[in-house]
Amino acid sequence: MNKMLALNWKMNPTSVAEVEKLMQAMKVALAQIRTGDVVVFPPAMYLDLITRIKESEQIYLELGVQDVAIAEKGAYTSQISANMAAGLGLQYALVGHSETHQYLGVTDASVGQKVLQVLQSGINPMICIGYQEDTSSQEIDYDMLKSQLQQALEPSKDLITNQDICIAYEPVWAIGTGVTPSPETIETVIIFLKRTVQEILGAKTAENVRFLYGGSVNSGNIEEFNALPELDGFLIGGASLKPEELPKLAQVVV
Ligand code: 13P
Repeated sequence: MNKMLALNWKMNPTSVAEVEKLMQAMKVALAQIRTGDVVVFPPAMYLDLITRIKESEQIYLELGVQDVAIAEKGAYTSQISANMAAGLGLQYALVGHSETHQYLGVTDASVGQKVLQVLQSGINPMICIGYQEDTSSQEIDYDMLKSQLQQALEPSKDLITNQDICIAYEPVWAIGTGVTPSPETIETVIIFLKRTVQEILGAKTAENVRFLYGGSVNSGNIEEFNALPELDGFLIGGASLKPEELPKLAQVVV
């Protein structure tokens, strides 16, 4: 299974000039990559610009949206449907990121509706697991993780065959804080998530699912995490906006 390097730019950068600069840094960092998967989730405002740069500069990456609506179309002011993303040729949609729980009222149940939309549209979901209201608690609540996975996958489990589904474990207290779980803890949680996905989707279908870690990953710790046998990649926020970090992060997918 290919490793996945997923870069979530969140609500950054803040100008076209900065997007262009970051894309040049991406071009350099990704120049050697031919086998792994790299996906960027930029602000939707910049997708057209980034698609044009990616094509004219032949940069090795896929693009995705940071969230999708629970419906195909209609009165959902401010939102983007999975069908729209598919129509533009995007490959991935991020679903259930903790910041969408926190600021946009996304719930564990609506994550399931969004995943269904994504799969019906023919693109691939990257599902974030690990949001909890107490953003400071570092305790691993396995019941909560299981429930989030069930709610995310159950509505579309009959649709899932060999799509490229990524599950990103993002403990909310590790996002943007510089603090991470230990490699052993990440490994333990990923093994648990894999077992749970097997229960929900069946062992054969679960074989195609990739498991990522996200939360304060940077050039200083990625190598250690990348040595974990169960981990298939990373979902990276802050460090993905720093040109000097990108070459080291890209090593994961060389
Ligand atoms: P940081 O890498 O900035 O901690 O963010 C992680 C994240 O939320 C990726 O989706």
